[in-house]
Amino acid sequence: MTRPPIRADLAAMTGYHSPQVEVNVRLNTNESPWPPPPDFAAAVAEAARSLDWHRYPDRRALALRRVVGARFGLGPEQVFCANGSNEVLQTLLLTFAGSGRTTLTFEPTYALHSHLSRISGAVVIQAERGEGFALSAERARAEIESVAPSVTFLCSPNNPTGLVESPQTVSSVLEAVESINGLLVVDEAYGEFASWSAVELLAEERPLVVVKTFSKTWSMAAARLGYLLGPRWLVEELEAVVLPYHLDGLKQAAGVAALEFSAEMHARVVAVVEERARVSSCLVDLGCHVWPSGANFVLFRPPPAGGDSVWQALVDRSVLVRDTSSWRYLDGCLRVTIGTPEENSVFLDALADILDHDE
Ligand SMILES: Cc1ncc(COP(=O)(O)O)c(C=O)c1O
Repeated sequence: MTRPPIRADLAAMTGYHSPQVEVNVRLNTNESPWPPPPDFAAAVAEAARSLDWHRYPDRRALALRRVVGARFGLGPEQVFCANGSNEVLQTLLLTFAGSGRTTLTFEPTYALHSHLSRISGAVVIQAERGEGFALSAERARAEIESVAPSVTFLCSPNNPTGLVESPQTVSSVLEAVESINGLLVVDEAYGEFASWSAVELLAEERPLVVVKTFSKTWSMAAARLGYLLGPRWLVEELEAVVLPYHLDGLKQAAGVAALEFSAEMHARVVAVVEERARVSSCLVDLGCHVWPSGANFVLFRPPPAGGDSVWQALVDRSVLVRDTSSWRYLDGCLRVTIGTPEENSVFLDALADILDHDE
């Protein structure tokens, strides 16, 4: 048997993986530590009972897009939904990037922006951030003007640093993107944990989209549901590219049901933000370098042994965080997701023990 070769430009690529290890406390993939409320599960069960399983779902997912858009004062035509925000990003790149085009990221940032760009066939330019991972608007503008990318990515709050881009920075980057006739994608997977959103900059004649997800705030990582908010003309282009009926009927119903629980979800965001402050300040007390986070995770560098040995020592104590210590720019760093107060305390106690500190 012969094996047909895969595309030459994909041959050197490795897939995107987040290593999983069996432990008691999992703080490595930025999920919500709590499942959705029990009434949500009941609403989804009811939707499953009444679904027309023998029919294709609403191809345009109008009911879902209507309730998602209404949360932001937008109409359904300004919303595009897909199987996780990763599929939203992929559809954007299939539509606006691809062979012969370039995309631009500011590193370190979410790896899928460059990974999905390459799969689309585009060339990726990975520009650097400045001191402390802050993005300098002037540097970003210069980069955009010289590279003229079809798609420019910002991630705010940024994964893995947790930093939130200011409205001034995003507006300034957007101006540069407009001047070269490109598209600006602001990935706000963690936007609900931050103090402002680029949604306020959206306008029909601006080349800006904001990408969001049900995976984090809405405790629905298992459901795979994400969306973008953007101009009507752009949503129409995406609808023409994405597979027909890509969003199954049960998922559409689950998304509609979830938005009935806004108050509960908001309370969870408040609880995570409170715990984030506690975890960050305890990490500082333990002598770690901590980056200010607007997300549901914190990037830190433990002293002085460095991240990878601390990572293993945490695993030995049944706590899993993300080992970012070998990532470019992140020498010795670890990223911890904010869990329940109990999980966070287990993590902090384990770290104190490893670093030989008394809490
Ligand atoms: C910045 C960012 N964007 C997008 C995603 C993808 O989220 P999902 O596909 O679950 O919606 C993640 C997941 O961790 C993320 O960190």
